[in-house]
Amino acid sequence: MTAAISIRNLSKTYASGFEALKGVDLDVARGEIFALLGPNGAGKTTLISIVCGLVNASGGSVAVNGHDIVRDYRAARAAIGLVPQELATNAFESVWADVSFTRGLFGRKPDPAYIEKVLRQLSLWDKKDSKILALSGGMKRRVLIAKALAHEPDILFLDEPTAGVDVELRRDMWNLVRDLRAAGVTIVLTTHYIEEAEEMADRIGIITRGELLLVKEKAALMRDLGRKQLTLQLNSPIDALPPGLDGHGLELAAEGGEIVYSYETGGERTGITTLLRDLAEAGIRFRDLQTRQSSLEDIFVRLVNENREAAR
Ligand SMILES: Nc1ncnc2c1ncn2[C@@H]1O[C@H](COP(=O)(O)OP(=O)(O)O)[C@@H](O)[C@H]1O
Ligand SMILES: [Mg+2]
Repeated sequence: MTAAISIRNLSKTYASGFEALKGVDLDVARGEIFALLGPNGAGKTTLISIVCGLVNASGGSVAVNGHDIVRDYRAARAAIGLVPQELATNAFESVWADVSFTRGLFGRKPDPAYIEKVLRQLSLWDKKDSKILALSGGMKRRVLIAKALAHEPDILFLDEPTAGVDVELRRDMWNLVRDLRAAGVTIVLTTHYIEEAEEMADRIGIITRGELLLVKEKAALMRDLGRKQLTLQLNSPIDALPPGLDGHGLELAAEGGEIVYSYETGGERTGITTLLRDLAEAGIRFRDLQTRQSSLEDIFVRLVNENREAAR
């Protein structure tokens, strides 16, 4: 089966000379929720703007449902809905008119029942006759989502969907995303919030400085790259770590009352046995210990830092 989105060696250099994408390769499977996770300025909006036909690539190619986005842009574009990062809507139209018009733009036959369903799902039904101008920021964002869905796309892009939105809209949005996925819609979201990727995505791609560092199943990402932290609560606080404990990469925490050790869970050895032996030899006694699995956040921060160091 062809991928929903197939990206090959995609690059983008803006007119300013800035290289926003540096040879990105990525396949998004049909029906999955894919999260593109990366810090601000990583190239997320640039990437999806190219796929959606809003920005021209400098090199490489993209196919949507097998349709090249340049040669066969109509077919590619018809398959896509985009909820942009920035608010931009026709302020003088009513919600109903604007959303229906957007459907028409894609050459779809009017379907008031479908538009009604979308507006109800987004709690916009009460506002269908309101001018968009008069709506709050959160409501305007709901209109953007309704517009993106107006032509029943089978791929939906959400660019930073919950940046600056209230809890209610976030909840409605996730419910909608789950419903859409259940209906077979492929969803690509960009985010710099780890929790968002962790909560929603089937697969996660981590992007920084225009490069896709890795793409993994969420569960595998957390398993393979997962680290654990062992915290030892000492009997009595110490001012500094004894020299005999060098080489374990330990940290002193809680004002000398705790020693923290990080280790890879995937490796053959964790180093815990040697650590405990060295602690005993150094005469350090502890009264309790805990281990904690690292979150996607820890993994992300580490990968981004490693990438920064490599760039130096
Ligand atoms: N039109 C443009 N001209 C020049 N540089 C741009 C333009 N748009 C974006 N950039 C730069 O490209 C980089 C990636 O931007 P963007 O794709 O918006 O990142 P993200 O969405 O991950 O925050 C940023 O450094 C940004 O300043
Ligand atoms: Mg962006």
